[in-house]
Amino acid sequence: MKGVVTSNIGSYEERLKGFDWSIAETELGYKKGDDINIGWYCSDRICRMGSGAKTALIWEGMSGEKRYTFDELRRAANAVAAYLKGLGIRPEDRVCLFLDRIPELYFGFLGVLKTGAIAQPLFSAFGEEALRVRMENAGTRAVITQRKHAAKVRKIIDKLPQLEFIILVDHDGKKPLLARETAFSLEGCAPVEHFECHSTKAESPSVLHYTSGTTGQPKGVKHVHYSLIAQYLTAKWVLDLKEDDIYWCTADPGWVTGTSYGIIGPWSQGITQCVLDVGFSAEAWYKFIEKNKVTLWYSAPTAIRSLMKAGDAALKKHDLSSLRHLASVGEPLNSEAVLWSEKVFGLPFHDTFWQTETGCILIANVPGMRIKPGSMGKPFPGITAAVVDPKTHEPIQDAGKVGLIAIRPGWPAMMRTYWNNEKAYQGKFKNGWYLTGDRARIDKDGYFWFVGRDDDVINTAGHLVSPFEVESALLEHPAVGESAVVAKPDEVNMEVVKAFVCLKPGFTASFDLDLEIMNFVRKKLSPLAMPQQIEFVDSLPKTRSGKIMRRLLRAKEWGEEIGDTSTLEEEE
Ligand code: WT7
Repeated sequence: MKGVVTSNIGSYEERLKGFDWSIAETELGYKKGDDINIGWYCSDRICRMGSGAKTALIWEGMSGEKRYTFDELRRAANAVAAYLKGLGIRPEDRVCLFLDRIPELYFGFLGVLKTGAIAQPLFSAFGEEALRVRMENAGTRAVITQRKHAAKVRKIIDKLPQLEFIILVDHDGKKPLLARETAFSLEGCAPVEHFECHSTKAESPSVLHYTSGTTGQPKGVKHVHYSLIAQYLTAKWVLDLKEDDIYWCTADPGWVTGTSYGIIGPWSQGITQCVLDVGFSAEAWYKFIEKNKVTLWYSAPTAIRSLMKAGDAALKKHDLSSLRHLASVGEPLNSEAVLWSEKVFGLPFHDTFWQTETGCILIANVPGMRIKPGSMGKPFPGITAAVVDPKTHEPIQDAGKVGLIAIRPGWPAMMRTYWNNEKAYQGKFKNGWYLTGDRARIDKDGYFWFVGRDDDVINTAGHLVSPFEVESALLEHPAVGESAVVAKPDEVNMEVVKAFVCLKPGFTASFDLDLEIMNFVRKKLSPLAMPQQIEFVDSLPKTRSGKIMRRLLRAKEWGEEIGDTSTLEEEE
């Protein structure tokens, strides 16, 4: 088996002793009370340290390949920042990035942060309703987008009075700009050699990522610039980023992995990273690794399972010997996937566990640690993690007993609140613990084993989908009277969305209606939230107080015993 000779973390046990996050502060040259701006740390500082000419980004999309040095990255972020400032964007304004994985997304993210405004990345496949809900909640003042996505924004601008600017990064000048639209071109703008970053402090807000819960609308997870401290160190110690590495994080910055470890982690240490902005195919991915000699790869179980499914023939056509460390996040990484990767790459995937709310990796198989395939590993130094009893919220002492994953608050990248929803934020803490909402067990060696979520949220291909959001979208369809949305097992995506639908009188179930409803949700929300299956039913099981028993429907899908339903019927 290939392996890392000396990893950045060295000995996990040694690192646990007397661990302090100040290690990262010292390495970054940050002192308490100083300004700290992620945009500056990821660009200006790297250039100051002499790496301006080093490649920061190797980008590949349908139009070909582009490369940018750290100096170009710095100037591009400056150009975005200067443009935003010129428009009148102020510190703490929310600026949404609604872009494909094009270079403007990466430079724009750092540019927004440089102005002191809050970056709000949203997945570009979101439909107008998903977009509206998130921009309305955030009170978004500007959105940076592409022509192809602007139509979705235009459809909802009447409902978004606070949205003053729709900034198009690819306006061709042929068609006139419409209401609130303005054009910015990275290639066309004058270089901005110097931009005075806003003097953000540790607790200044930086990024707002939206995440889905079981009830209510998606919640805006507010992060601060100080999160850098933990993102920097976890990227260095867990992903093992080193000076000459070529790093590939396959996540989209519309989700937290794509910002914490697809922008901030690698660039704050001056690492070259790659982005591939084309749809998934095993062939394209292997080719990309071979061509760019990728050494570090951070991906997700669904992608790994898709690669396994594509077969080893595709793999054998490529020289993937550059790879030296592999990691995964987002869903349970089954032991088969770890064993497969050991077999075909000579390297195991290292599972990591964390959340949008936690901002950085919490539990991981760090380099050098003995991997137990199927386990998430152990808490990162500085992270106190336990499984607690669901009722008492006291840590469970018996090895192997299932409880709720709980973390002692206080690490640098922890969310600071849910935007405009302090109540929901407070609700995440019990008995001095932050509750992740996941269930797990800890074995006698201290390894964490994921068991499942403690709520009805659907995890499809590593993306959380709220049943509530899908049900609300379904209800807007004229034929839908009532609906219940649950997870259904899927070989590759782990879970997919399934909807039970009661039609309104006068409508009959048909193949066409089925497709129409699926498409309706896809357009309103996103391809991820689209039900893969709709089951038309006459009625839905309900509690005595009238709440739909999703758990019963879910259990049926998973072939689980639900036992006595009378207790469920009495739930409020
Ligand atoms: C939820 C968080 C931050 C990473 C991207 C997802 C699930 C995450 C694992 C893992 C099993 C995992 C949990 C968690 N999850 N990593 N290694 N094994 N489940 O961020 O969208 O906030 O989702 O993803 O259920 O709570 P997110």
